[in-house]
Amino acid sequence: MVEITDKEFKKLADYIRSHYGIFLKTEKQSLLNARLANVVEQHNFKSFSEYYDYVVSDPSGLATSILIDKVTTNYTYFMREPDHFKYINEVALPNFERSLKDYDLRVWSAGCSTGEEPYTLAIILEEYFKQKKRWDKKILATDISTQVLNIAQKGVFEHRQIEMLPPMWKLNYFTKLDKNTYAVSDRLKKEVIFRRHNLVQNFSFHFRRKFHIIMCRNVMIYFDKKTRDMLVNSFYNITEPGGYLFIGHTESLDREATHYKYVAPAIYRKV
Ligand SMILES: C[S@@+](CC[C@H](N)C(=O)[O-])C[C@H]1O[C@@H](n2cnc3c(N)ncnc32)[C@H](O)[C@@H]1O
Repeated sequence: MVEITDKEFKKLADYIRSHYGIFLKTEKQSLLNARLANVVEQHNFKSFSEYYDYVVSDPSGLATSILIDKVTTNYTYFMREPDHFKYINEVALPNFERSLKDYDLRVWSAGCSTGEEPYTLAIILEEYFKQKKRWDKKILATDISTQVLNIAQKGVFEHRQIEMLPPMWKLNYFTKLDKNTYAVSDRLKKEVIFRRHNLVQNFSFHFRRKFHIIMCRNVMIYFDKKTRDMLVNSFYNITEPGGYLFIGHTESLDREATHYKYVAPAIYRKV
């Protein structure tokens, strides 16, 4: 088995940190070695230096995508951290319903992984605006990993992944493909736009319009403080006044470093 040297680890970790914001402590050296062993083997690289050269010169982005998959986790599920969806339904959406005069609601799931988070959001919005047809609501769902985005775009899930959802939601928003497999309905799919996007690439987001809700949950845990602060600042600039930022419950914002106001656990608002 090819072993990563201290120097190679540092070079790779520096690259990952500067391009993707992900901070790997030196204790992660053997973990990285183990996680990348089969990639190095598959390509017959003689050393991690050869692997590094391959990653940095790959124009397709696939090599970096696989690398990022190895150093982060894509763990996610429908209705994760349910009090966030309750808050959206009971507080945020009624607020927007009162304040938005153009009936146009824009939501961003940043670091959406395999799609469970944006599809949950889409269901919540569909349910809320069921009788209010003039509302236009779109969800942008982005991730750095093409692998998870492919799964998200397919929108096919096993029964165990959706079994916690209310029966009416399963009936209305999923089509049963076989005994164990369900597909997200075309109607729901149309509400979500999936795109590859690196959150920490130069920190300036070129979106045409600002968002009312940004969810970036369980993503910033991989970033160092400076990266987190810069990213939160970029989120702030792209949030509509009155809009919200949702982060993971195990994460927190440096309240000194942000203009967002804390409104509920892991929920912040641009006031
Ligand atoms: C644990 S998942 C979180 C999924 C979902 N937000 C949730 O809370 O269940 C973290 C996701 O962040 C993505 N990610 C990590 N670094 C990123 C970056 N620099 N830009 C965009 N996405 C990134 C990973 O690919 C992964 O899919």
